[in-house]
Amino acid sequence: MKHVIVAVTGASGGLYALRLLRALLAGGHRVSVIMSGFGRYVLREETGLGAGDELQDRLAGLYGDAVMKGDLTEYKIGDLAASIASGSVHTDGMVVIPCSMKTLSAITHGASSSLIERAADVTLKENRPLVLVPRETPLNIIHLRNLLAAAEAGARIVPAMPAFYQKPSTFDDLADFIAGRVLNLLGMDQQLFSPWDAPSGGKEPAG
Ligand SMILES: Cc1cc2nc3c(=O)[nH]c(=O)nc-3n(C[C@H](O)[C@H](O)[C@H](O)COP(=O)(O)O)c2cc1C
Repeated sequence: MKHVIVAVTGASGGLYALRLLRALLAGGHRVSVIMSGFGRYVLREETGLGAGDELQDRLAGLYGDAVMKGDLTEYKIGDLAASIASGSVHTDGMVVIPCSMKTLSAITHGASSSLIERAADVTLKENRPLVLVPRETPLNIIHLRNLLAAAEAGARIVPAMPAFYQKPSTFDDLADFIAGRVLNLLGMDQQLFSPWDAPSGGKEPAG
């Protein structure tokens, strides 16, 4: 069982987070979730996942009881005294999915003023995998510089850019491609999509 921190911020694409949480929990892992205020707002707007019951129960309502195999703890974004704010607590990595340009900027500059920013700072200083799933378009030069700085600091950047060679037929298929790439970067097995296997034997089409 691995322990992964999943942060949800106010960029479009909350479905990526839901599909990642589904996979981690169904795999029996321990997940510490932190949502920003706008992360919660945009997630509700896009997926209808509202407040109310415990998050794990709401995920079970969407995806079935398989998600009860794992262990989910939700932390408040302002709780800088939470255990995961300290490097002394072992985790196997952190994912910010989706990652807004605001949170990207705060992480890049070491702001550490919210639990998301602090946990990301700790993940980097402890040399654990930090995976950012940024989503914005178009990107301005500030976004691009911040992405480069984050990568230079050791973060892995997985832009929310699903591939189409997998022939996705649903939004879930699109989101699973990104969730699967994230799991790969955390060193975890995933069956969310199959590796590319050229149907034409890899030959360039004639003409
Ligand atoms: C419907 C909606 C969609 C948004 N989409 C994005 C987005 O794709 N990328 C982004 O960087 N910000 C987006 N924003 C703006 C962020 O939510 C805003 O910058 C916020 O301050 C981010 O704060 P957080 O990182 O603490 O969640 C969106 C806001 C709303 C209301």
